[in-house]
Amino acid sequence: MEDLIIDKASPVTGAHTAANMGTMKALVYYSPGKKSWEAHAKPVIKEPTDAVVKILKTTICGTDLHIMKGDMPEVASGRILGHEGVGIIEEVGNSVSNFKKGDHVIISCVTSCGKCDYCKKGMYSHCEKGGWILGYMIDGCQAEYVRIPYADNSLYPIPDGADEEALVMLSDILPTGFECGVLNGQVKPGDTIAIVGAGPVGMAALLTSQFYTPAEIIVVDQDDNRLEVAKTFGATHIINSAKENAIEKIMSLTNGKGVDTAIEAVGLPATFELCEEIISAGGHIANIGVHGKSVVLHMEKLWDRNISITTRLVDTVTTPMLFKTVQSKRIEPKKLITHRFKLDEMIKAYDTFEHAAREKALKVLLEN
Ligand SMILES: NC(=O)c1ccc[n+]([C@@H]2O[C@H](COP(=O)([O-])OP(=O)(O)OC[C@H]3O[C@@H](n4cnc5c(N)ncnc54)[C@H](O)[C@@H]3O)[C@@H](O)[C@H]2O)c1
Ligand SMILES: [Zn+2]
Ligand SMILES: [Zn+2]
Repeated sequence: MEDLIIDKASPVTGAHTAANMGTMKALVYYSPGKKSWEAHAKPVIKEPTDAVVKILKTTICGTDLHIMKGDMPEVASGRILGHEGVGIIEEVGNSVSNFKKGDHVIISCVTSCGKCDYCKKGMYSHCEKGGWILGYMIDGCQAEYVRIPYADNSLYPIPDGADEEALVMLSDILPTGFECGVLNGQVKPGDTIAIVGAGPVGMAALLTSQFYTPAEIIVVDQDDNRLEVAKTFGATHIINSAKENAIEKIMSLTNGKGVDTAIEAVGLPATFELCEEIISAGGHIANIGVHGKSVVLHMEKLWDRNISITTRLVDTVTTPMLFKTVQSKRIEPKKLITHRFKLDEMIKAYDTFEHAAREKALKVLLEN
């Protein structure tokens, strides 16, 4: 992928005040395939409910790759990407009461006001003033600093001594795999489930599905390294769908019945349609993947199958619960980190995550 090279000494863009003319480095998206690690104005408090957070650790999501591929043309040129990370509070607005300068925090990928109708229902993803906006509609956290709106509700405190690398996985992938995949997929003890996509999000579904002790967990991907890792995380069967016929193999493993839950964690027509082929009567297809293209819904085959299909943008309502499971080491998402970089090596980190099979990469961690 070609990177747009910007002169590091070029004039700073973005909002800044006389009081805070500082600059920082940030990963700026320009257009599909064009991004740059460059100087940018440091964010400042705009609303009394804001906090400015200094990033300590951040990472790259499959969704950032969708943006870079052009699957999300709504992302503006000049946007700083990134919606995951932990950091230290640099400054808070006057009405922030839960946090103060110096506090260590987890940044949630979803911003929520806590007051609107959707927030009251626990559907933070559709908060009327927030939702998923970070690194999408507003500047995100692949930068030295980030402005977090509605900080009281959108940040989580990190207690002293916690393993902050593991907690980066709480920004997005753990609640995503759990809420969109496991909860929506209604995984139950004794179930046979399939997880299509063994990226960090599929792996998070794999880890958190085991809270409910499914009997069989079939993981499908095209990356042998990721599939081998899935085995160490509890997959009972792995299928490389580039080398084997995944439908035939899953139907044979399930005596022709199909799986109780099929979790789609890729975001392609082919992988969603695979879930349609392997779902048992009464089963649940839980879509997680971000889709840039339409998929074919085979109602001629599914109309009488008593199945449910769910879609969800992660709400992050389970973050406090998942935090406890990470703290107690009931699950160890830190094992998903395969590569560590300095924040300044952002372009190299993207290259590694974009070529995950070649690099044997899962989650890449960037440290400031
Ligand atoms: N719904 C949400 O709120 C939400 C939140 C975060 C991420 N996501 C989405 O979840 C998906 C997974 O994210 P990730 O970070 O793990 O991404 P990723 O790109 O690291 O992982 C995707 C995996 O799919 C595999 N794959 C690609 N094509 C395949 C095919 N034809 N058959 C089988 N496997 C195939 C890849 O080898 C890779 O392991 C992405 O679509 C991402 O945008 C959704
Ligand atoms: Zn994400
Ligand atoms: Zn709200």
